[in-house]
Amino acid sequence: MSFNIAIDGPAGAGKSTIARLAAKELSFIYVDTGAMYRAIALGLLRNSIDIDNEAALLSALDLIEVGIRYVDGEQHVYLNGEDVSLLIRTEEVSDMTSRSSAKPQVRSKLTALQRDLAARENVLMDGRDIGTEILPDADLKIYLTASVRTRAKRRYLEQADKDGACTLEEIEQDIRERDYRDMHRETAPLRQADDAVLIDSSDMSVEEVVSEILRLVSLKENA
Ligand code: DC
Repeated sequence: MSFNIAIDGPAGAGKSTIARLAAKELSFIYVDTGAMYRAIALGLLRNSIDIDNEAALLSALDLIEVGIRYVDGEQHVYLNGEDVSLLIRTEEVSDMTSRSSAKPQVRSKLTALQRDLAARENVLMDGRDIGTEILPDADLKIYLTASVRTRAKRRYLEQADKDGACTLEEIEQDIRERDYRDMHRETAPLRQADDAVLIDSSDMSVEEVVSEILRLVSLKENA
């Protein structure tokens, strides 16, 4: 039997950095489900699909194939065989992902892939609906969050040296809107599972959060 850890939470809470480090410590496979949604969004953008046109969305999804593979322990995501791991990190793709991931047709395309991985391997899977929908029986569920201000500051520092940088207030507004969309969509909204442990990383370092997760895992393993 595999051991599964689900980490959910809003954008910018540090999920992927923390999940990657914790997975490494545990020798688990880190599954970044956001990257899978991003690959689909890139496919939809490339084909200029109007995602509100259901027939167009369905036929586009039929032609989109998402795969993941691990190269030197890092997850790479593939869109119809092409490695798009870097191409999916643009603002344009983030925006389309936030809209297209609200579509049930898009979500159901990835459910089986994610559950299959978890059934075969010890995984630490991060996303928005892992503890609530994808792996309701996960051995450990974590809801990782941080205040809007903290998340905005982190993103501000990341982009400060790029051209066309946004102000802190603009970033805060964007984070609020994206949170609202992720939490209020009809299909698989972001919410803390009843049996998830809440970690607020606003005043914690990455190392502190990782050790808290490792502590929770060892409690579960020894229970
Ligand atoms: O974690 P991320 O920023 O890469 O996620 C990109 C978008 O995908 C974000 O708008 C939420 C969505 N997403 C989702 O709906 N379900 C998941 N399991 C993972 C991400």
